[in-house]
Amino acid sequence: MHPLQCVLQVQRSLGWGPLASVSWLSLRMCRAHSSLSSTTCPSPERQEDGARKDFSSRLAAGPTFRHFLKSASAPQEKLSSEVEDPPPYLTMDELLGRQRKVYLETYGCQMNVNDTEIAWSILQKSGYLRTSNLQEADVILLVTCSIREKAEQTIWNRLHQLKALKTRRPRSRVPLRIGILGCMAERLKEEILNREKMVDVLAGPDAYRDLPRLLAVAESGQQAANVLLSLDETYADVMPVQTNPSATSAFVSIMRGCDNMCSYCIVPFTRGRERSRPVASILEEVKKLSEQGLKEVTLLGQNVNSFRDNSEVQFNNAVSTNLSRGFTTNYKAKQGGLRFAHLLDQVSRVDPEMRIRFTSPHPKDFPDEVLQLIHERDNICKQIHLPAQSGSSRVLEAMRRGYSREAYVELVHHIRESIPGVSLSSDFIAGFCGETEEDHVQTVSLLREVQYNMGFLFAYSMRQKTRAYHRLKDDVPEEVKLRRLEELITVFREEATKANQISVGCTQLVLVEGLSKRSATDLCGRNDGNLKVIFPDAEMEDVNNPGLRVRAQPGDYVLITSASSQTLRGHVLCRTTLKDSSENC
Ligand code: 5AD
Ligand code: SF4
Repeated sequence: MHPLQCVLQVQRSLGWGPLASVSWLSLRMCRAHSSLSSTTCPSPERQEDGARKDFSSRLAAGPTFRHFLKSASAPQEKLSSEVEDPPPYLTMDELLGRQRKVYLETYGCQMNVNDTEIAWSILQKSGYLRTSNLQEADVILLVTCSIREKAEQTIWNRLHQLKALKTRRPRSRVPLRIGILGCMAERLKEEILNREKMVDVLAGPDAYRDLPRLLAVAESGQQAANVLLSLDETYADVMPVQTNPSATSAFVSIMRGCDNMCSYCIVPFTRGRERSRPVASILEEVKKLSEQGLKEVTLLGQNVNSFRDNSEVQFNNAVSTNLSRGFTTNYKAKQGGLRFAHLLDQVSRVDPEMRIRFTSPHPKDFPDEVLQLIHERDNICKQIHLPAQSGSSRVLEAMRRGYSREAYVELVHHIRESIPGVSLSSDFIAGFCGETEEDHVQTVSLLREVQYNMGFLFAYSMRQKTRAYHRLKDDVPEEVKLRRLEELITVFREEATKANQISVGCTQLVLVEGLSKRSATDLCGRNDGNLKVIFPDAEMEDVNNPGLRVRAQPGDYVLITSASSQTLRGHVLCRTTLKDSSENC
């Protein structure tokens, strides 16, 4: 946002318009702005003369237009060691969590799981406590998703339940504060505050650093919002807090945002422009996780393999990598920077006993360097998510995916040749604008042709702001979308069963996660292809200590023979290491 726009919003606030009780601003500009809005815009019942006088005196000592310009041009990345001054209208004490208990609830994708930990890491540093008991909470934060209408409806329903909790709250307790974080805050902005008066805080995906300030403003009974998107926020210095001490795996966010602008997708509007986190800070996080004993990291990003670290000038001379053959982009070619192959190489060297996965990639960014590395390195899982979205070139063009069915199928063959035994998964959308029965049949045939191991299938949901919303017609009737979706699910299941059948009787390396949810005598874990595997908790030999009989613990690697193909079932053979198993299997 341009600083001038920001000043205009302040004026609107001062005019006591619909935004009057909302504090809108970015981390860097908001200090000044919110000093106005948070003190000038109390909820109606609090509009007292005294407060206005107080505001006037604070305003006189407040920021000038110069402050807006200064803060707007300030560098965005902050070092964790930097101590922030409190905004002029809040004392340090007001910014602290004062042991308030925060309950965080996550909806949507894995990026949101990671964002929840980032938000929590920021709040924890500010003196908040975390609770897993809703009744105990002083602050409830929902990390939300906007990708489809249904995802948003779930949040609206949840807000109605929370409203009851808020109104029933005894006066003896501090008032309950409710916050909406993430994509829905970004997409709907003030609509949420207007529709649901009991929402106190809105924070978009790039505004989590501002949470302590937003909550401090909310403490005084006002609504507070920051939904500005950033060009360079990657939370590089915010180490997510591992909340589950027995976890064997963790997510590591490596890039945020998306520049692809697929015509159906809201993500570029809710999560903003593509930006990558510096390689050094990613490696630092992976090393820490390895030291903590974690055995698997999943590199995360909206377009994880479009990674491009441009944080240092000399990276511009880095060797460039190509797009996958037959693929194009909707944006002007980008130059330089350390690419995904480099990062993957470095990350996989941190700990040879640590499995590396990544999600979600775009098929356009699979140059040979990346495929070669996946093939070569024992600890990079031979598993690739390759979102196709449709099997019809005509629909793919309307979706602006930048490839045809033929180019996609060629890539699948190339990947299978480069990485024998690779496990493939995909996303598909049923009933996109203008999709005919013939287009649908083509998608069914792609499912049959590729025979994915895993799939994520959705009915198309029109999203405002997208290109499809403006230029295309959502003309496939709902019941047709659902029928096509059902057909895709059926075909996908049939093919996945066949694909997974191949592993029956084979030896598989499994990372043990813990007890199976269904049975106390079974353990569960995941194979290299990320399929869930269930097997009896039995004694076995330990390859590293011949003669020793052991039981598998979370974080162990065990070999199993798989005996069924849905959720794989199997029998343990021995405890082993990733290195040993790749040498001997
Ligand atoms: N409707 C249905 N599915 C969608 N996706 C993205 N946008 C929409 C939409 N508007 C699906 C795509 C994407 C996955 C994360 O969600 O398949 O890959
Ligand atoms: Fe959405 Fe396309 Fe970006 Fe994926 S690549 S987040 S589908 S715009």
